[in-house]
Amino acid sequence: MINHEKMELTVEKIIHTIEDFAPKNLAIEGDNIGLQVGNDLNKSVERIGIALDPSLKVIKGAHNKNVDFLFTHHPILKDPIRSFNGLIYEKLKILIEGDIILYSAHTNLDICKNGLNDALAKLYDLKDVEYLYSNGLGRIGVFNGTFEDILHLTKKYLNENPKVVNSEIVEDKRVFKVAVLSGYGLSQRDIAQVSKLADVYISGDLTHHSEILAEDLNLCVIDAGHYGTEVYGLKEFLKYLNEVFDDIDIISLDF
Ligand SMILES: [Fe+2]
Repeated sequence: MINHEKMELTVEKIIHTIEDFAPKNLAIEGDNIGLQVGNDLNKSVERIGIALDPSLKVIKGAHNKNVDFLFTHHPILKDPIRSFNGLIYEKLKILIEGDIILYSAHTNLDICKNGLNDALAKLYDLKDVEYLYSNGLGRIGVFNGTFEDILHLTKKYLNENPKVVNSEIVEDKRVFKVAVLSGYGLSQRDIAQVSKLADVYISGDLTHHSEILAEDLNLCVIDAGHYGTEVYGLKEFLKYLNEVFDDIDIISLDF
């Protein structure tokens, strides 16, 4: 007789699967990753939710859609806090009353094999790919094509309306050294460093001062947004979870 009964999925099994993909030891020191809210590792899970941010909207959405296990890329707390009132109280109340587990894989998911940065390197089909930074963040490799091709892929998959700086420098080139970094990667320090290594740099969160520095240092920058450069890889991660847990509901909540 064939047993059609679903295998029970527990919090522990889900965490194990996530950490197989994005090992915790890859995270940058001090990053707040792992189990954020919840206690019962043996709790059975019927629906997983995935989001970039544990915003109030996402948490309410998870509650309304009967999500048992909410995975977010960004953690719920970055800085130490001294009291649980206001917004954080509101978020925790929904999570705890709804018995929703909250779990985050942040820089470990950026860095790991097939994580958010590898997803970007694959999108542009970069060759001879290396880490951009020695801590594993970012990727750099050779792009074979025109700047128009780079822009086309960016607009199609990351952001319909990216901010482009200094495109005239690379408009006539055919082969580029391209650097990518998911999320916040356009600080002045990043621009200064990457200008020595790449022709084109695709990342998110460009400020006025970084833009001026990129102009001064002749680096072509595409700001495809924090959201755009991270959600692309999160969608790939969602596909992976769907393959592993083929008989469970997995829903996206902010992408
Ligand atoms: Fe991020």
